[in-house]
Order: sequence, then C-alpha cells, then structure tokens
Amino acid sequence: MLFIKKIEDLKAVLTTKRGVGKTVGLVPTMGALHQGHLSLMERSSQENDCTVVSIFVNPIQFNNSQDLDNYPSNMVADVKMLEAAKVDIVFAPARQEVYPKSPLTRMTFSPLDSILEGAFRDNHFSGVGVVVSKLFNIVGPNKAYFGQKDLQQYLIIKQLVTDLNFPIELVCAPIVRDDNGLALSSRNQRLSDKGIKQATVLSRILKMAEQKAKEGVPLTQIKKDAAELCTDNNVQLEYIEFIDTGEFCLLKEYKGYHNLAICIAGYVEDIRLIDNILIQE
Ligand code: PAF
Repeated sequence: MLFIKKIEDLKAVLTTKRGVGKTVGLVPTMGALHQGHLSLMERSSQENDCTVVSIFVNPIQFNNSQDLDNYPSNMVADVKMLEAAKVDIVFAPARQEVYPKSPLTRMTFSPLDSILEGAFRDNHFSGVGVVVSKLFNIVGPNKAYFGQKDLQQYLIIKQLVTDLNFPIELVCAPIVRDDNGLALSSRNQRLSDKGIKQATVLSRILKMAEQKAKEGVPLTQIKKDAAELCTDNNVQLEYIEFIDTGEFCLLKEYKGYHNLAICIAGYVEDIRLIDNILIQE
C-alpha cells in the first residue's frame, strides 16, 4: 500500500496506472474509519484495478470550530485497517496541501441544500462540494464511493457530477449498522457505552416511523412520538423528516409514493448523529 501526502506524487502514480489501462476507484473519507468505510473500500476493490482512499478532515465543511477540533482521528488504526483491506493507495494530504490559500469558491445546490443538514449546518455542502471537486480533479477516478448514511450529501454530489460533467460513476452503498441497529459513524467513537445504547433509539424511531406512516398515522403525530422517544432516551432531536428523494423535498403527508426516505438528526452526549432509511413499498 502506498501512503501519499503530496498531490503531485499521487497524480504521477495514477497517470502511470491509467497509462497501462488500470481503472481507479476513489473512497473519500475523513478518517476514523469503521466497517461502513470498509464496505466502500471492498466494493471499490471488486470493481476497480486500483483503489484510492483519501483521508482528509475538510475544515471548510464544518460550521462549528469545536466540531472540527473534536472530530475523531486515529491515523495508526486507520492505516492498519487500510492495509488489512488491501487498499492500493492512501492519500492523506496536509491541510496546507489541499488549501494553500483559503478557497474563494462557494457552491450552492438550492433547493437540495436548503433542508435537513443544509438548514442546520451553514455552508456545509459548499465545503463538501469544493473538496469533493478537488478530489475528483486530483484523482480522476472512474468510480467514486459514498455511503447512504449521508444521503443528502450523496444526492448533492450526484447533482455536482451531472452539472459539472465529471466523467465519474457514483456508487451509493447501503448503511452498515451494529447489532443493535446503530448506523456506524466515525462520530460514534466519541460516545460512551451509555451513549451508544441511547443512540440506538434513532434507528428504532426510523423503523417505527416507517411502520406508522404505512398504517396511516399522520406525519405530525409520528414526529411528536419521535420527539417523546428521544426525550425518554436523553437524545436531543434536531429533526425527523419524510422526504421524496427524487424531488428532494419534505413531505407533509405520506401517500405511499416511490423514492421515499425518512431522515433523522439528533445529539447524544453533545455529539451530532444522523441516520435515514429508504422506505420500501
Ligand atoms: O462523508 C465524508 O466523510 C465527507 O463529507 C467527505 C465526502 C469525505 C468530504 O469531506
């Protein structure tokens, strides 16, 4: 496995690989890797000759400096996991390498970025759009792999790829959960054992919400019940929303549409977690 920190070095290696017809898969990450990331790497390794995993905690997608400072990082454990996963290249640039100067480019994806995460995290998707565009230009992958846990991020990157003609096929891989249903996330590493237990209420709420919606319970009532369940489990609910993933809009009532998802965000022990499920008809 090659561990590369400089953009020029990465480009040189990839130019050689592409010159002999090798395909490249990119798994962009911010490190603190878990089984969810591993599923993306495995998929990339199956579908490409060479897999590049980037590890870069992107400062411009954090609207809160404390959240950035507290973002978990464990390069030693990450490298072990990447070696075991037989990843070909790790690209772990320093902040200065990616942003020699503060970028002036801002991206908006209205209306995709005006609800859910976009409504609660100012400039978050602008920062994601800028860094993902940079990674696409630096790596030039044939395919890039993202997790469904960040559903809104995936849909926004899909729009970015279409709008800017990036010649890249996107793959959205299913959420990986622990035995109690908790969606795996780098942020879980900061939770206590008690917090991990409390956080499992998020996925239980999503299942409950799906079932109740199908039974015809009004969404306002479902949201009330979700808020109560959160309070009972010491979880501070930020939102629970039913969305149409095609139009990417919030739903006020459930009519058994196709392309539906339920998205939730909340704080457990002051750590912000998100989760979602796609509704199967
Ligand atoms: O999902 C993430 O880990 C990040 O938002 C990404 C896509 C690596 C961009 O920094």
